[in-house]
Amino acid sequence: MKIFVDTANLADIEEALKRGFVSGITTNPSILAKEPKSGLENHVGKIVDLIKKYDPSGNLPLSIEVFSRNQEEMIAQAVKFKESFGYPGLCVKVHVGWDELAVINDLSRQGIDVNCTAVMTVTQAIMAARAGARYVSLFWGRIGDAGKDEKFASDREKMFADKTIDDSDFNPAIAVRRTRDLLDKSNLTTEIIVGSIRNVVSIRDAYLSGAHIVTIPPKFFSPMVSHYKTNEVVEMFLNDFKNWLA
Ligand code: E4P
Repeated sequence: MKIFVDTANLADIEEALKRGFVSGITTNPSILAKEPKSGLENHVGKIVDLIKKYDPSGNLPLSIEVFSRNQEEMIAQAVKFKESFGYPGLCVKVHVGWDELAVINDLSRQGIDVNCTAVMTVTQAIMAARAGARYVSLFWGRIGDAGKDEKFASDREKMFADKTIDDSDFNPAIAVRRTRDLLDKSNLTTEIIVGSIRNVVSIRDAYLSGAHIVTIPPKFFSPMVSHYKTNEVVEMFLNDFKNWLA
């Protein structure tokens, strides 16, 4: 059960790293685009410096995503990330898809760790794992959205008609549980990262469903360790002790 941080924000990364609970960092192009423009290499370099400051192994997994849908470009970008960032813990994020399986396979054969991302179904996860992905990132919030999003009503109907999916595919807890069971039964070392987190309850449920890792937006860390009854009892301890000393 590991905790990753889902951000490219330097201050948030440092606040998390200095508390010692972080086992990895994930980003995606949209997450990076929220940060001040300074160039990918420069920004990733600053993340790597922070990791080295707080993690003695200097090897914490850091996922950076390719920004293309073309096979050759994805491979070239991944190889360039590996060379230019010079960071041993670098994982290259590649979205799941038919052409992308060849990219995942190529990169993993070159010894580059792949985090296969944007995974919504068990079958996508299994295909990515078999192609060589080190991680499969299942998108908890978006799996639920997939069953409701009006804009995709006809795509959904077609997948139902073709028996590509059924109702259970819109339940992220079921998707994570089934993926974990299949990975374990197949003795695959691929780890499940659950992303697309929208609240603390889904973080808890993702771990209970079998996620090896949940990648968590920093805004949820403080709520994860806060409780009004904790505050009440700590205040009581301090007051009782102060009165006893007086
Ligand atoms: C995880 O790896 C993803 O980058 C992220 O969690 C996506 O989540 P979203 O649904 O908030 O975009």
